[in-house]
Amino acid sequence: MSFKISDTVTWVGKIDWELREYHGKEYSTNKGTSYNSYLVRDEKTVLIDTVWQPYAKEFVANLKNEIDLNKIDYIIANHSEIDHSGAFPELMSEIPNVPIYCTKNGAKFLKAHYHQNWNFVEVKTGDILEIGKNKLIFVEARMLHWPDSMFTYLTGENTLFSNDAFGQHYASELMYNDKVDNAELFQEAIKYYANILTPFSPLVVKKIEEILSLNLPVDMICPSHGIIWKQNPLQIANKYMEWAKNYKENQITIIYDTMWNGTRRMAETIAEGITEANKDITIKIFNSSKNDKNDIVTEVFKSKMILVGSSAINNGILSSTAAILEMIKGLGFKDKKAAAFGSYGWSGESVKIITEELNKAGFEIINEGIRELWNPDEIALDRCRNFGKSIEESIK
Ligand code: FEO
Repeated sequence: MSFKISDTVTWVGKIDWELREYHGKEYSTNKGTSYNSYLVRDEKTVLIDTVWQPYAKEFVANLKNEIDLNKIDYIIANHSEIDHSGAFPELMSEIPNVPIYCTKNGAKFLKAHYHQNWNFVEVKTGDILEIGKNKLIFVEARMLHWPDSMFTYLTGENTLFSNDAFGQHYASELMYNDKVDNAELFQEAIKYYANILTPFSPLVVKKIEEILSLNLPVDMICPSHGIIWKQNPLQIANKYMEWAKNYKENQITIIYDTMWNGTRRMAETIAEGITEANKDITIKIFNSSKNDKNDIVTEVFKSKMILVGSSAINNGILSSTAAILEMIKGLGFKDKKAAAFGSYGWSGESVKIITEELNKAGFEIINEGIRELWNPDEIALDRCRNFGKSIEESIK
């Protein structure tokens, strides 16, 4: 499969309808993904990025249907991660001398992945590759999301090849933002941002401001995953600016795990208390052992506050609670509040441990949390309801 996206650019990537896990098991891809590779034809012919290794043979065969490989003058590796460079060994076995343009780190990382001495050409921000009527301009995008990441801008077509930035793990044969269901598209885009880009938010703001300051017209943004931004392409850059500035909706997310439903009943009753105090707050409740962890992280991203609960076990907390707290800590959320809750039988450390973990994760702890013995009775549940009411106050 390939399709023309403009007079000069043809998509030659791979839609992966069946992928359900990415980065090992760290990211759920419930809607599949695509690895977008682009062929730019001017007086010179340029290939931008490739696909993941399992699709390497299919990719090269498909590319041969589109062009004689010997006509490719340059290859651009915007990012060395194997979902985009995985077809290099297959491709370079046929055209080993074609120069590969990438950042200094890109060359270093590609060498470490594939142990081949390909013809790397290192580029920096502002470097230009003349390809005929048009030019390709390189913009380093360090830590968005790897130290090697880079964007490539095609003049004439005013197209930004942004690699992972502005991407989504979303398989659709429709491929354009004005064709697909926009609720699905933005849900996948915010999930991608929340789970991958949150730690790099200050750099996102700087990079977008830098690109806007170049005053380059942008008619299309072609990321390396998912849908191409063709209609009002800068809307996704504007969304990124919003998301990068400690994004919050009027939402509280409650995350818990439970052994015999005591902590679940606490979670639901705390939620009732919040709603009794303020019906305008969106409350989302997740059992961390039963829900997709990336969906939970996306809701944490949208929240002003999170409440995390676990039954006590073995002087500690349940494993799914520990796992989601570890993910949350790694993402470095800023300007969010938190508190802990949980039921216990005798030693009862869970609330203290969760509070400590939330504090280490950078959340503002609003109180010492609430714990209840065994199966909470009506008096205990009243305390949980009042806890919920009191929490509403602290997000005003
Ligand atoms: Fe899609 Fe960072 O690779």
